[in-house]
Amino acid sequence: MPSREFKDRIKGSRAAPVAALPLRGRLVGRHVGRQVKEAARWIVRSREHENFTYDLTPRNLEHLAWFVAAVTPCTVTEARGYIAEIEGDAQLRRHAQARARSGPQPGLSDVSIRYGRRVGWYAMVRATRPNVVVETGTDKGLGTLVLAAAVRRNGVGRVVTVDVDSAAGHLIAEPYAGFIDQRIGDSLDLLTGFGEPVDLFLHDSLHTPEHEAAEFAAVAPLLSSDALVLSDNAHVTSELASWAEATGRRFLFFDERPAGHWYPGAGIGVAVSS
Ligand SMILES: C[S@@+](CC[C@H](N)C(=O)[O-])C[C@H]1O[C@@H](n2cnc3c(N)ncnc32)[C@H](O)[C@@H]1O
Repeated sequence: MPSREFKDRIKGSRAAPVAALPLRGRLVGRHVGRQVKEAARWIVRSREHENFTYDLTPRNLEHLAWFVAAVTPCTVTEARGYIAEIEGDAQLRRHAQARARSGPQPGLSDVSIRYGRRVGWYAMVRATRPNVVVETGTDKGLGTLVLAAAVRRNGVGRVVTVDVDSAAGHLIAEPYAGFIDQRIGDSLDLLTGFGEPVDLFLHDSLHTPEHEAAEFAAVAPLLSSDALVLSDNAHVTSELASWAEATGRRFLFFDERPAGHWYPGAGIGVAVSS
């Protein structure tokens, strides 16, 4: 066993990079090995090929509660309560599972329901009690269901969701459908003709910077004074941050940490009035 003195001498010598190679190799090998194992497990167990679903790590959920408390008027204890509420909502989970089984592409969907960052959307709707929530990009309808479950618990409000795909939204059915106004078409067409104030807006449709920016510009005149504007694409573009700055709002970002999934995670970008 080399003495500490000898090790310190090597660390300060020109041989240091070579001496450190085995340790550096072991560190990166362990990291890549864990990733390969997670990816292999996912290839075997999951059927998803896009819009991946997963749970968040417990620490990430705790960070999410603090994030929700920072962007809405609720306390962190209340935010934790909202997150626990949706995670423990057996009716919503059973509903989504049953609808997922009967979806148009059962071979490309998972039956297990994992909300990921959508629990943050839920908590924000619970905390702010919006009258009108607009979600662009319905896809299967998982986010729409989560938003509608929050509106339903609030006892006030509705969710307007839009998608260009006429097959979108197969998870949507009663008892949640009554809180959802589902539209088929381009999000920009919907926003251009939208005639009422929007209290919470979520961009989750075409994830190009141009389309994202165009949605923020189109929704801006419709927003109520304390509206929350969310982007599901803020881990990729700076459109919401730029728009927030240009319109005198604050921008914050929650960074997702999926539990046991190879995907590094997306996040929640939020613009709030200063
Ligand atoms: C990432 S998915 C939405 C995910 C969904 N919000 C959720 O929580 O799972 C994106 C969806 O946007 C839709 N989309 C793409 N371009 C669009 C557009 N111009 N207007 C409306 N929807 C669009 C796609 O058809 C797709 O279903």
